[in-house]
Amino acid sequence: MIKPEKIPVHVSIIMDGNGRWAQERGKERVYGHAAGVESVRAVTEGCAELGVKYLSLFAFSEENWGRPEQEVSTLMKLMFKSMEEEFDTLMKNGVRFRVLGNRARLSPELDEAISNIERATAANTGLTLIIMLSYSGKWDIQQAALRMAEAGAHDLEPFLVTAGIPDPDLIIRTSGEKRISNYFLWQAAYSEFVFTDTLWPDFRKENLSAALQEFASRKRRYGKIDK
Ligand code: IPE
Ligand code: IPE
Ligand code: MG
Repeated sequence: MIKPEKIPVHVSIIMDGNGRWAQERGKERVYGHAAGVESVRAVTEGCAELGVKYLSLFAFSEENWGRPEQEVSTLMKLMFKSMEEEFDTLMKNGVRFRVLGNRARLSPELDEAISNIERATAANTGLTLIIMLSYSGKWDIQQAALRMAEAGAHDLEPFLVTAGIPDPDLIIRTSGEKRISNYFLWQAAYSEFVFTDTLWPDFRKENLSAALQEFASRKRRYGKIDK
């Protein structure tokens, strides 16, 4: 059991390793993306049970648009289908659903479907589930800087797509890679990192619990010294 004060408010996951998971099984990469949906379900449930308030999931980066057309379109279809299938469960569990990123690059149909679910779940007060889609950290800082200048303002934070959401306390990356891959460049200023070799489609509640245990043992200092 982790003490409630040691539970992170915001957990973020770089969901990596779907392609390798599929390839290990002699299947096409997209098979791994489809399998990853079950992991999303498991961690969403796990975070809600553990009292995490925000769960953000890096689902698709701006750079991922450069993958083969077929993989990109399968990923977008999967997003569409999963939202439709999970909608009732989200409502039942009081989950607020949001999608953040460069939404202008999404198809109008997908963008509209997302907006509908965001609207329908806006008043839910349980876990906030945030899908980072067509997102990159540099893009976010750039668009925020532009809008800040236009507004003649001096604080960047209210213009980031994550405005109003506390910075991630914990960032987990699966699949053994140890890099940020243009994810939360601004928001990760004081995040704790947990890297695991587990491939995303194999990630379950036990893996989430292990990462939260590790987080609970960390000492955060924010540049200051221990009292
Ligand atoms: C993560 O898995 C999902 C996305 C980036 C969309 P990958 O597709 O990157 O899988 P690997 O890293 O090639 O195994
Ligand atoms: C990062 O994974 C992006 C997502 C998980 C959505 P990538 O697989 O795209 O990252 P690199 O290319 O290995 O750095
Ligand atoms: Mg990858």
